[in-house]
Amino acid sequence: GKVAVLMGGSSAEREVSLMSGKGVLAALQSKGVDAHAFDPSQQDLGELRKQGFARCFIALHGRHGEDGTVQGALELLGIPYTGPGVMASSIAMDKIMTKRIWRFEGLSTPEWRMAASEQDTRDALAALGAPMIVKPAREGSTIGLSKISSPEECAQAYALASRYDPEVLCEQFIEGMETTCAVLGQGRSAQALPVIKIVAPEGNYDYQNKYFTDTTQYFCPSELPDEMEAAIRDLAEKAFRTLGCRGWSRADVMVRASDQQLFLLEINTSPGMTSHSLVPMAARATGMSYEDLCLHLLANASS
Ligand code: DAL
Ligand code: MG
Repeated sequence: GKVAVLMGGSSAEREVSLMSGKGVLAALQSKGVDAHAFDPSQQDLGELRKQGFARCFIALHGRHGEDGTVQGALELLGIPYTGPGVMASSIAMDKIMTKRIWRFEGLSTPEWRMAASEQDTRDALAALGAPMIVKPAREGSTIGLSKISSPEECAQAYALASRYDPEVLCEQFIEGMETTCAVLGQGRSAQALPVIKIVAPEGNYDYQNKYFTDTTQYFCPSELPDEMEAAIRDLAEKAFRTLGCRGWSRADVMVRASDQQLFLLEINTSPGMTSHSLVPMAARATGMSYEDLCLHLLANASS
């Protein structure tokens, strides 16, 4: 039947979503799938049923796309969709809620404080120490994020983050190596793909260096020691299962330089599928092409 690739949307990551969606749409069409672009910011989701769509590939990022709302609407419409369901999507969109659950389950994540004001941000810096990350609780692609080291920087960092979300997360900065690890599958049988090591210019893996420059280096295979590769995969699988993810997700994991300890930063339930994106890179390392990855995800769409 007809497949809708949901792309665009109204979040701050709209531009990224359009790049992801374009890639997915072309890939599915090249494999003979009757796939069409559908932008929920232009068309009512109820149109999906009226127009006879049988399944959806969700290539939306951020709020009203990755946060359980679209997933809930598709549940009501009875249309199967790719990726995690309502609850996992909703929790994973909220980095604070996610960290609470991981902490409760004994999974390592950096120390944090919530901030609802500049003063909270200064208090958090005093408590957590410098440097500290200040970011919106529910945002992606490093949008609204600052790395700060002094109390003088708190006001601006808080103002920026709170532009995107009234809930602001202050998080201890982990000095070390940035890695990411995708997980595919359902529940107990979910399995990690190879780890990707990310080396960004001056350690600054920001919006520009994620999508537009070609100076960020990616290593997959990661070239990490076997035990570390295995430990990151194991942590990513636990992060996935703990939140009740299904289909796919991608966990971002820091390796602290001083002692090699691992820290979960977040899990993305609608990972980027742009030409610079990471899940396709990890899939390719196992011999799965971008097109096959799209087909695989679509075949596992559920509701
Ligand atoms: N939030 C972006 C799309 C990602 O994690 O890939
Ligand atoms: Mg993210």
